[in-house]
Amino acid sequence: MNNTNRLQDKIAIVTGAAGGMGEATARLFAQSGAKVLATDIQFEKMNVWVQAAQKEGLSIACILHDVTSESDWQAVVSKAVHLYGGIDILVNNAGVYRPLETTEATSLERWNQVLAINLNSAFLGAKTALPHLKKSGRGAIVNISSIAGLVGGNGAAYSASKAGMRLLTKDQAVEFAPFNIRVNSIHPGGVLTPMTEALIPVDPEQKAQMMQMMCPLGRIGEAIEIAWGRCSWPQTSPPT
Ligand SMILES: NC(=O)c1ccc[n+]([C@@H]2O[C@H](COP(=O)([O-])OP(=O)(O)OC[C@H]3O[C@@H](n4cnc5c(N)ncnc54)[C@H](O)[C@@H]3O)[C@@H](O)[C@H]2O)c1
Repeated sequence: MNNTNRLQDKIAIVTGAAGGMGEATARLFAQSGAKVLATDIQFEKMNVWVQAAQKEGLSIACILHDVTSESDWQAVVSKAVHLYGGIDILVNNAGVYRPLETTEATSLERWNQVLAINLNSAFLGAKTALPHLKKSGRGAIVNISSIAGLVGGNGAAYSASKAGMRLLTKDQAVEFAPFNIRVNSIHPGGVLTPMTEALIPVDPEQKAQMMQMMCPLGRIGEAIEIAWGRCSWPQTSPPT
């Protein structure tokens, strides 16, 4: 698929962009003509690929960002506006997951941490970016939920956070529609990223068995496949 100019001159913030799907999304957006501000709590890791992307001529910058911090969100939004002049797209991608976090094994502190990173962050991001998304006149928020937000079995806190993101998305889609801001969620199944690579067995037979069990396609997804899902833009003009 040709991605040139698909997001020409759109201004996008992508969180959790040090690696995995956030990096794939931020890079694809920039390759598609967007001006991108990549954010992550792992600044050094993110800065390595962002600097390389800048040398390739992509319009991309990055900033240290803890998505649970309201003041960090204000700094991120200010930087995007200062650098590029506004905000059209917000991708709430940052998240944490650990396998086997049963209810019994989860402290209240851990519960609050998972909810803060995976869910409160999207509320804070939308709230802080909203004035600029309204000004855009064609804003879009993309929230990265998970298959875990649709079915159980991935740990209470993670599943609750991702299910919460689904309804946060639906509620804000209704609330922000009068401003022509679209709000959508994406619910990936298994995707090979730093979050999941340690969970995949090295043994080829065990790996094949796991893939058959987890993925109807018989293989794990690639980050770029999910990035493409975030890169669509309506071809028609917004209503006047
Ligand atoms: N990989 C999968 O199979 C899968 C499936 C469904 C959904 N997801 C979701 O996709 C999103 C991206 O995950 P990924 O698989 O690319 O994993 P990843 O670990 O590569 O990316 C998550 C990023 O979030 C960042 N992050 C964590 N806490 C943060 C904080 N407090 N502030 C800012 N950044 C923070 C991490 O540093 C990391 O770079 C997550 O929301 C994840 O829950 C992943």
